[in-house]
Amino acid sequence: MSVLGVLGAGAMGSGIAQDAATNGWEVQLIDINEEATVTARNKLQKILNRQVEKGRMSDTEVKGIMGRIYFGSSMKAFETADLVIEAIIENMDIKKKVFKTIEGIVSPECILATNTSSLSVTQIAASLSNPSRMMGIHFFNPAPLMKLVEIIPALQSDPTIVLKAQSIIDNWGKYTVLAKDTPGFIVNKVARPFYSESIKIYEEEVADIATIDWVMTELGGFRMGPFTLTDYIGHDVNYKVTESVWQAFYYDGRYKPSFAQKSLVDAGYLGRKTGRGFYNYGEGVVKSEPNTNAETGIKILHRVLAMLINEAADTVYMGICSEEAVEIAMTKGVNYPKGLLTWGKELGYDYIVKLLDDLYDRYHEERYRVSPWLRDRI
Ligand SMILES: NC(=O)c1ccc[n+]([C@@H]2O[C@H](COP(=O)([O-])OP(=O)(O)OC[C@H]3O[C@@H](n4cnc5c(N)ncnc54)[C@H](O)[C@@H]3O)[C@@H](O)[C@H]2O)c1
Repeated sequence: MSVLGVLGAGAMGSGIAQDAATNGWEVQLIDINEEATVTARNKLQKILNRQVEKGRMSDTEVKGIMGRIYFGSSMKAFETADLVIEAIIENMDIKKKVFKTIEGIVSPECILATNTSSLSVTQIAASLSNPSRMMGIHFFNPAPLMKLVEIIPALQSDPTIVLKAQSIIDNWGKYTVLAKDTPGFIVNKVARPFYSESIKIYEEEVADIATIDWVMTELGGFRMGPFTLTDYIGHDVNYKVTESVWQAFYYDGRYKPSFAQKSLVDAGYLGRKTGRGFYNYGEGVVKSEPNTNAETGIKILHRVLAMLINEAADTVYMGICSEEAVEIAMTKGVNYPKGLLTWGKELGYDYIVKLLDDLYDRYHEERYRVSPWLRDRI
């Protein structure tokens, strides 16, 4: 039986462990904090019991999965691992330190991977004496439900270990996409305008939040509008991702965070979890009704879509991923109703370019610069 080591039994680590054990792997799930492993075990048992109640799994299957996961607090358990995935706190120094320790425990053939969302995989790999065995394997939350996994070779990665790891994750029933080690990889980069352009439209008072959410769900077919979604994610989390992508791209204006969201963070209005974000979730608060004028709605939808399509196009142009990968990433990673390049083609690349050029002429802001990939196609 193949053995997976997982470091960090939090939200991501326990989800990854569940995925692997469901697919017949033996898992060593290790956390520095023993309480975290107890919580992870209880939570997982509960999740699996619900699967039995719903008739999706048998008792024997659940026992099998639980029996294949060992919960512990010592990394010594990684001795027999074929692959170790780290899913601990998002901190470069701590990640580098634990990988050094792990390298001293595992076999020379063991592949090492980080689940980081925002740190440089290449920089983490540089802490190892053999950086060629290191790569990024980026799952989405919750891992057992989200089918997309981004595979991120470090600059130093041996291509054969990357292929090997990709085929392991494919065999767990995931859609894997290859991405260059650049800020936000694919999904967290390409999705930025969904939030930022919607917030800009709101800041300019073109429309209120209820209207923009209505536009994106009812006219656009997205599962949640940007304001409902960021309230759900938490503004502390969403703002931090935006800020870190912006900083990591050397303050490219395209990714500039917004004052509207910063103010929410400053006020502690973090979204659903604090009872207030863009919306107020207090008892008896009546939600405002959207303006459902179709003409204005389409204008808003196309402005946000043009920005998303441009970001997807530029991600391909910059060689971060293939055309096919960006389509899979956004439909499987964040459930977009359509691949963005396909959407762009349907609307007409010439129309998207004209829309962005008009926005650029009006604002003279970097965020509206058209990707050469799009311009080359008209
Ligand atoms: N939460 C998400 O939506 C999400 C999605 C994709 C990737 N990620 C990435 O996955 C990683 C983990 O995120 P999370 O949301 O699961 O965090 P989390 O806070 O839920 O869990 C982290 C766990 O790591 C443990 N830990 C911390 N330092 C440790 C150490 N030195 N040794 C062993 N265990 C240690 C903590 O006790 C905790 O249980 C981060 O790098 C994050 O960027 C998170």
